[in-house]
Amino acid sequence: MKLILLGPPGAGKGTQAHYLMDRYNIPQLSTGDMLRAAVNAGSAVDKEVKTIMESGNLVPDKLMIKLISTRLNEPDCENGFILDGFPRTEEQAHALDAMLLERKIILDGVVSLTVDKEAVIKRIVGRYSCSACGMGYHDTLKTPKVPGICDGCGNESFTRRKDDNADTITARLNAYFEKTAPIIPYYKKSGKFIEVDGMQKIMDVHNAIIKVLEINTKH
Ligand code: AP5
Ligand code: MG
Repeated sequence: MKLILLGPPGAGKGTQAHYLMDRYNIPQLSTGDMLRAAVNAGSAVDKEVKTIMESGNLVPDKLMIKLISTRLNEPDCENGFILDGFPRTEEQAHALDAMLLERKIILDGVVSLTVDKEAVIKRIVGRYSCSACGMGYHDTLKTPKVPGICDGCGNESFTRRKDDNADTITARLNAYFEKTAPIIPYYKKSGKFIEVDGMQKIMDVHNAIIKVLEINTKH
């Protein structure tokens, strides 16, 4: 299964990617997670990336395209992948087309999660995740089954993102509507576009995604 997950910050891309990874046994290629890992590792270039991410703006296309192009060559992507957070601009979408063509990869679906602005702000402000496996949680909307223990891996430590604050959210939403939303018509024309109501309960969103994917991939 080869998928793109689209949607504004807080739409549930990472949450859905985790369930899709388990179902199809394919990796989640989250550009946000990759950048955060690079920033934590620390280098001169990464300092600049850190500043951009903390301001809620987009990291330059050239860097992002190289990151994904390199990642797609890794063996775990052979049976499929979930692109979470890429592409995010028209330039990235065109570059991805070229990468897929070169590797003779055909996408199975471009899933776009639609959500209300007020809801995503609430989701982002309360978000935290497992510091070991990355499973996402929320102070009120999605808490671990046993308080303080990750459902996925049993780990007991969690982290919050530096860009999950009220000031940065506005910039992140603006970046989405100015730079990312314009690629939606491009994917609508591809015949692979699947729009899903991201305001439903987490497992209802998951079921809606797999229902369409599994009908589409049967033919
Ligand atoms: P990135 O890490 O991709 O962040 P984002 O796009 O802002 O998206 P989020 O991760 O905030 O939201 P999500 O949709 O994954 O939501 P989640 O599932 O966690 O990017 C960060 C930064 O990196 C960017 O700002 C940019 O600077 C840079 N960057 C990354 N990629 C780039 C690119 N390609 N080009 C340039 N720059 C790039 O859910 C959120 C919360 O809601 C969670 O707490 C969850 O539990 C809860 N939740 C989820 N679904 C539901 C539901 N259905 N109902 C109730 N609660 C829910
Ligand atoms: Mg995410």
